[in-house]
Amino acid sequence: MFTAISKRYDLLNRLLSLNRDKYWRKVAVSELHVKNGSLILDLCSGTGDVGIEIAMQDDFDGSIIAGDLSLEMLKIGAMKCQRRGIEKIEFVCADAEDLPFRENLFDGVVIAFGIRNVQDKRRALTEVSRTLHKGGRVVILEFGIPRNKLFKRIYHLYFRKILPAIGRIISGSSTAYSYLPDSVKTFPKREEFAALMKDSGIRDVRYFDLSFGIVTIYVGIK
Ligand SMILES: C[S@@+](CC[C@H](N)C(=O)[O-])C[C@H]1O[C@@H](n2cnc3c(N)ncnc32)[C@H](O)[C@@H]1O
Repeated sequence: MFTAISKRYDLLNRLLSLNRDKYWRKVAVSELHVKNGSLILDLCSGTGDVGIEIAMQDDFDGSIIAGDLSLEMLKIGAMKCQRRGIEKIEFVCADAEDLPFRENLFDGVVIAFGIRNVQDKRRALTEVSRTLHKGGRVVILEFGIPRNKLFKRIYHLYFRKILPAIGRIISGSSTAYSYLPDSVKTFPKREEFAALMKDSGIRDVRYFDLSFGIVTIYVGIK
């Protein structure tokens, strides 16, 4: 599915989020507390926007691995980096449920809008914990369901009717942007997902909402 929409993925992100997606990723990255020389995994990286956000920070002198299942998404990410002269990101085909990296490797792992799409979330979180070194941070940015009743109604109208229609016209995929609200609906509740992170070997888990709860950021430490 992501391969099918890869060419229009970035455009639709900007359009459908009214450009808020950049701000959401920025806040998620700030929670990573990236230090000098850090090795960061941007997992379910798609076209690499999180990795690029980290690499563009003035004082960043570490390295980033952007890992995703879809080669097409990775290719677009690599091309974007080439165009912008970014050399700190390596794009790697990687399954979140079976990461091709050794134990205790990363200083930080960030997953933006990715974990929702992974079949076995517990397994992926256990893999994240395995590949993080002790004290390393994990930051997960994911869509949520707004808590305010009135806002929730307006949001549902947009998310269920308007967004899938725009997504269908621009991406050419009849399913990808109807899948989005469905996958958000079936995603675990905030406290359930935080509990899953704890069960997977991640401690000090906390979470907070942005933009009235349209998205939630989960933070933990190995
Ligand atoms: C909604 S996109 C998010 C991309 C990017 N992180 C962003 O912020 O825009 C979800 C990505 O997760 C990837 N994905 C889904 N399941 C995966 C898995 N098991 N392992 C790795 N990547 C996966 C998809 O290929 C897709 O590129």
